[in-house]
Amino acid sequence: MKQFKIACIPGDGIGQEVIPASQVVLEALALGQSQFSFEFTSFDWGGDYYRQHGIMMPADGLDALRSMDAILFGSAGDPNIPDHITLWGLRLKICQGFDQYANVRPTRILPGIDAPLKRCTPAQLNWVIVRENSEGEYAGVGGRAHQGHPIEVATDVSMMTRVGVQRIMRYAFKLAQSRPRKLLTVVTKSNAQRHAMVMWDEIAKEVSAEFPDVHWDKELVDACTARMVNRPATLDTLVATNLHADILSDLAAALAGSLGIAPTGNIDPERRYPSMFEPIHGSAFDIMGKGLANPIGSFWSCVMMLEHIGLDQQAQRLMQAIEAVTANPKLHTRDLGGEAHTQQVTEAVCQMLRH
Ligand code: IPM
Ligand code: MG
Repeated sequence: MKQFKIACIPGDGIGQEVIPASQVVLEALALGQSQFSFEFTSFDWGGDYYRQHGIMMPADGLDALRSMDAILFGSAGDPNIPDHITLWGLRLKICQGFDQYANVRPTRILPGIDAPLKRCTPAQLNWVIVRENSEGEYAGVGGRAHQGHPIEVATDVSMMTRVGVQRIMRYAFKLAQSRPRKLLTVVTKSNAQRHAMVMWDEIAKEVSAEFPDVHWDKELVDACTARMVNRPATLDTLVATNLHADILSDLAAALAGSLGIAPTGNIDPERRYPSMFEPIHGSAFDIMGKGLANPIGSFWSCVMMLEHIGLDQQAQRLMQAIEAVTANPKLHTRDLGGEAHTQQVTEAVCQMLRH
């Protein structure tokens, strides 16, 4: 029997509701299976940990995660701690510390979900956004001087490296190649940003030569938002910089019905380190502690995790259970216009798994 070691980091806000719910669902999935089991280890890092210790996670925290098969992450964010501290102190520390350079964000309109996007059938919308996850606008390069004085200056430098762009392009072309349509859109802004984004385009073209069977095109990021709304079926796999993909993926999630559904994986494709899976919705303090959180984004992230650790059949089983549950409007949480609570949705998914 293979035992998979899963680190759970609920973090802040509704992360503390959806990650325990995910654990329950994964336990239900493993129940009675003789091939595999899960061993969960939970870490109490986040805003409360910061209030006690002055840091979001211990200095040697990465060492505690290193030997894990995967990490399940809830969210980081606290109304009383500046966002850049919660982000850089926990989530980015893990993403960058473990060089999880590919952030993968699938979008589909799940059964039963009323999505605002009416220019395609649910079946025609099947996107994966590949987000560069290690540099670019999130490189952390920049600074401030003369704070509070009229001559104050501040910079955030977007830093792109040839190696960084090459590896994310290769990842995206390979992913596009593995999907039925073999279609990739390279998102850019090389009309206005005339250095790094021009290199980005050049490297896309170079890497494309390695994948002659992949059809690819280039789209400016602003035009891409319009194309997602007006001609959604012309898109399949997309690759974009850290910030561009951050913005496009929220749009994608909203177009598919709710931010509460969207999953993501922070992947180290070389598997030197554990990869990390999380819902993209964030900490949602307005609804925390009320049992209103939609756990579907977190469950779908578990599907991505199962695929990553090689449990493809189990991933399919869980995705089918999720889709059977979203198909029933009585099991929709508030973000989807329903009244169901986190626990009811969790219980319903577990019940589907028992069938
Ligand atoms: C995301 C989130 C984060 C990001 C926030 C929480 C800083 O919006 O994962 O998309 O911008 O990377
Ligand atoms: Mg975002």
